[in-house]
Amino acid sequence: MYSKSELEQFVKQAKQYARYGKVADYIPALGKANPNDLSIAIYTRDGSVIAAGDTTDKVTLQSISKIIALALVLIDHGEKEVFQKVGMEPTGDPFHSIAKLEEVQPAKPLNPMINAGALAVTHMISGASVNERFQRLLQFVRKLAGNPEISYSKEVAKSEFETAFLNRSLCYFLKQHGIINEDVEELMDLYTKQCAIEMTCIDLARIGLVFAMDGRDPFTDEQIMPLDVARICKTFMVTCGMYNASGEFAIKIGIPAKSGVSGGILAAVPGRFGIGIFGPALDDKGNSITGMKLLELLSKTYSLSIF
Ligand code: DON
Repeated sequence: MYSKSELEQFVKQAKQYARYGKVADYIPALGKANPNDLSIAIYTRDGSVIAAGDTTDKVTLQSISKIIALALVLIDHGEKEVFQKVGMEPTGDPFHSIAKLEEVQPAKPLNPMINAGALAVTHMISGASVNERFQRLLQFVRKLAGNPEISYSKEVAKSEFETAFLNRSLCYFLKQHGIINEDVEELMDLYTKQCAIEMTCIDLARIGLVFAMDGRDPFTDEQIMPLDVARICKTFMVTCGMYNASGEFAIKIGIPAKSGVSGGILAAVPGRFGIGIFGPALDDKGNSITGMKLLELLSKTYSLSIF
């Protein structure tokens, strides 16, 4: 396995690319991040963790939460019901695009990783109230990470809630077409809290490990999600996890991964380990520029591509 000093060397190399990126500021609270931060943790199935950078930094999940919410609704409702409201195809469009919604019939989002699809997924989280639905999601995240302390950033949730006009318009479009039927403000409350769930890259790596192990927690031996649910999630990570950069990512890196505009990346090397990265300098597609460089260095050096 890799040594800490080797990983630190990779972090140093990847950090040089921070200058070509930019932190997300369309959610005002995310604009405070330092573009030069970069941390990584690799969690192996035997329980060892190798980490480099400031691993006490917490990152909000943002779009990484989409893969976890998808797993939960697949458990809640099953494949058939979920895929009646959201498709399985990559879009080639930016994550917040509304364009394809009007082009496809029926007007359902093409996949659960773009914002429109993620909003349809969050709508499907079961529970009697927004609070109960959020608590169910949070419990699921805590279980996946093996960390009962995980919570969410009220500041980031509020900041997104107050500014998410584009996501609100996606919701209204979905409501008009019968994909969702709840109150848009309630759905936005739940979605912005979901995106603001925060954790360290070590927690993130452990969640990646559960996906890598087909939904089984290797430390408790609990099957946290059925194998098929883990398989569907990993497939979406490959086809849509990095949005309209997923094809290039598959060729250059070849590891199922999901990014978020906070600069987080969750990656799962099947059967081997989970990787959590936090590097807030983003490229123009909303993916961590330093994080992707770091994964590329790892994948090339250790032949981690699944293809
Ligand atoms: O809905 C949004 O715009 C954010 N809460 C999440 C977007 C995101 O992370 C896209 N990822 N690269």
